[in-house]
Amino acid sequence: MRPAVSTPLPGPKAKELLERGQAVLSPSYVRPYPFVPVRGQGVFLEDVDGNVFLDFMAGIAVNTTGYAHPKVVEAVRAQAERFAHVCFSDFTHEPTLSLAERLVSKLGGGYRVFFGNSGTEGIEAAIKLVRHHTGRPYLLAFTGAFHGRSLGALSLTASKSAYRKGFAPLLPGVVHVPFPNPFRPPLGARPEDVGEAVLAHLEHLFRTVVPPEEVAAFFLEPIQGEGGYLVPPPGFVPRLKALLERHGILLVADEVQSGAGRTGRFLALEHEGVEADVYVLAKGLASGYPLSALLFREELASWRPGAHGTTFGGQAVAAAAAHATLDLLEGGLTENAARVGAFLLQGLRELQTRFPFLGDVRGRGLMIGLDFGTPGEERPDLRDKAVGLAFQKGLLLLPAGPAAIRIAPPLILTKEEATMGLEILEAVFRQL
Ligand SMILES: Cc1ncc(COP(=O)(O)O)c(C=O)c1O
Repeated sequence: MRPAVSTPLPGPKAKELLERGQAVLSPSYVRPYPFVPVRGQGVFLEDVDGNVFLDFMAGIAVNTTGYAHPKVVEAVRAQAERFAHVCFSDFTHEPTLSLAERLVSKLGGGYRVFFGNSGTEGIEAAIKLVRHHTGRPYLLAFTGAFHGRSLGALSLTASKSAYRKGFAPLLPGVVHVPFPNPFRPPLGARPEDVGEAVLAHLEHLFRTVVPPEEVAAFFLEPIQGEGGYLVPPPGFVPRLKALLERHGILLVADEVQSGAGRTGRFLALEHEGVEADVYVLAKGLASGYPLSALLFREELASWRPGAHGTTFGGQAVAAAAAHATLDLLEGGLTENAARVGAFLLQGLRELQTRFPFLGDVRGRGLMIGLDFGTPGEERPDLRDKAVGLAFQKGLLLLPAGPAAIRIAPPLILTKEEATMGLEILEAVFRQL
């Protein structure tokens, strides 16, 4: 397959559906461009007018195994014929039980699992768990972080004030720390010193604002997602972890976007050589079926029966889809993400040498950010134009952060398909 756009966009059928949506849908939905899908195959999506698009966004970094992977379809069909839901909060059942065992064994043992339906639910459960277990009120997170939209998770989220506007007061006791962005360093730091500067700032906060012995946990995205696909500087995360340990502060790794093979490892934190006390996985875990997993160290398993629960979390069809997804990740997709991701990153860096408005190209595996502008000047105008032009040429992208594009294709992407994407991007950049 190849991208092929044969109607003006949006086409007539897409236009009609978008108009119907305007009359009935919540105005809180965002539509970055007028794409109306009808079916997908592999890394390609077809719209209602028959146009074919190469998908570099995977439904916001979700569709690990691409569209309609036969193994996922078969697992879903087989489980749907048995039962979809009985309520895992009340009754133990397969395939959810063996999924819990499988996830724990991927961490090397010593963890417990709680299933939810979304990343936000996983984060919300993590907030409750760390507060309940430690009895400490404060929570720390980074500016630029995205941890979800429910009021607890939103209190940690600090990627755009628009997400928070009108919803205050949020959870008290949440303190944000500047993210050590090497491209646009905070705190007046130089790029090479940014990790140091952020750790010094955190120690300063501990002396002046937040008693560290009252902090339950630090929530960390191993690669900041919504904030712009930002990779922390080398060595920063281990040093942060050591500092937190000194004060008995738990580390919660929000792997909702970065986990499930996307960065070329099962968990993005593996790149840092650090283990978290709590992990939250969602998005890519079940190839598009709603599922999140909260994994927490055995020693934190102090809450009582009924302390937390959910009707749908750990639903059997989603668990079956997760098993099929893990089979495929273990069968080569994680390595593919590393291999094709490195190829794509190299191709994008080559484009960067020819198009200087690409200020930064960064990422791991198939989690790549392209930042428009310079350290001193963000260019969201160019970024938005690039996303729109790419759509017109048959490439689906999404923005992230103030001025970046996130590249997060399904992990089945081949080098040939990556090259198709690079060719479209080159044509887009020439037009900018
Ligand atoms: C890192 C991270 N955490 C949490 C969430 C929230 O997940 P969900 O939208 O499934 O509730 C997201 C969603 O984008 C995310 O990227």
